[in-house]
Amino acid sequence: MENSRKVVVKASTEYAILIGRGILENLGEEVKKRIQPCKAAVITDTTVEKLYAAQVEKSLQEAGFTTCRFAYPAGESSKHIGTLSDMLEFLAEEEVTRQDIIVALGGGVCGDMAGFAAAVYQRGIRFVQVPTTFLAAVDSSVGGKTAIDLKAGKNMAGAFYQPHLVLCDVDTLDTLSEEVFADGIAETLKYGVIGDAELFEKTAGGDFRNNLEEIIETCVKMKRDIVMEDEFDTGLRQLLNLGHTLGHAIEKRSGFTITHGHAVAIGMHLIAKAAEEKGLAEAGLAEKIKIALKNNGLPVSIDYSAEEITEGVLKDKKRRGGEISFVFPTKIGHCEIVKIPVEEVTELARKALK
Ligand code: NAD
Ligand code: GLY
Repeated sequence: MENSRKVVVKASTEYAILIGRGILENLGEEVKKRIQPCKAAVITDTTVEKLYAAQVEKSLQEAGFTTCRFAYPAGESSKHIGTLSDMLEFLAEEEVTRQDIIVALGGGVCGDMAGFAAAVYQRGIRFVQVPTTFLAAVDSSVGGKTAIDLKAGKNMAGAFYQPHLVLCDVDTLDTLSEEVFADGIAETLKYGVIGDAELFEKTAGGDFRNNLEEIIETCVKMKRDIVMEDEFDTGLRQLLNLGHTLGHAIEKRSGFTITHGHAVAIGMHLIAKAAEEKGLAEAGLAEKIKIALKNNGLPVSIDYSAEEITEGVLKDKKRRGGEISFVFPTKIGHCEIVKIPVEEVTELARKALK
């Protein structure tokens, strides 16, 4: 589409990410440029369904696709095997075949679950990511991590499975609540801390809404570069987990009343404090991160004990036997991955909570 920004990912498959305004209106035509008209199963949640499902289906139909729709109750509490099972049964009942596609219309929960369904349904069908949250736009719609949560923890079952196309209509972000928008800011600041001090400066003040397309493109390009070097998360990609190990433990402990982005914000601040305490980070780093998070309406601390946080951390899928990898920020724009023995996690959590 004219006027949209295009980023190409060359991983195990090659695909384009289009970022722009008014994309939903032309979504069918954009999909048709890459995929012959077929049946498109639109997977969404009940909130996004009311806002955008009819428009997306109309656009697909006008381009020659037939459509069917599956909507699950909005929120992280739906990201489980029961919803996935219903989704797969729905695809089978609708006689979706390997020639057909899934269109994941929604935030990170939708993209992760619909992507997992695409990976396993009939051993894999093509899927298109249509991110409608800021978090999904800057992060989850790109890179092919798909998953559901298990009782034991976040994203414990899933697959690496790249989308065929990512269509990011920035207009859809206008209907987000401040809180949900802020979830994406946490991930954006994360990219800044990992490797782009300029991006951090641009977003730390909290006033960047007139610049969203550029910010999304910057984040997605960084993720693209990381994914192209380490698609299967064996090294470099772990940097994207900054704030996530503590964050996932917090999210889980809260019974998902604290959202992913908010938990990552807290996790990022806490791990920066621990990095300073351990002498790994430059002095004042945690304070800089704290101010940026607060400017953007994000939380920076939590009233859990070191033992409560440790319990969640030890169940994290990043654990390898007796060790678990943590991403420590050393300064804005640079982080290091350090393996911590499990018996030292509680002490680390104490440093973080100090
Ligand atoms: P989400 O998908 O639950 O969306 C948050 C809320 O916003 C929902 O209630 C949804 O209905 C609503 N919503 C979505 N789009 C809207 C719109 N345009 N207008 C109004 N409301 C809208 O959650 P999320 O924050 O987008 O994503 C969090 C999930 O993403 C977590 O499960 C996390 O683990 C996952 N994640 C995955 C990756 C990855 O690489 N795969 C990366 C980061 C996060
Ligand atoms: N959000 C973490 C990753 O994509 O690797």
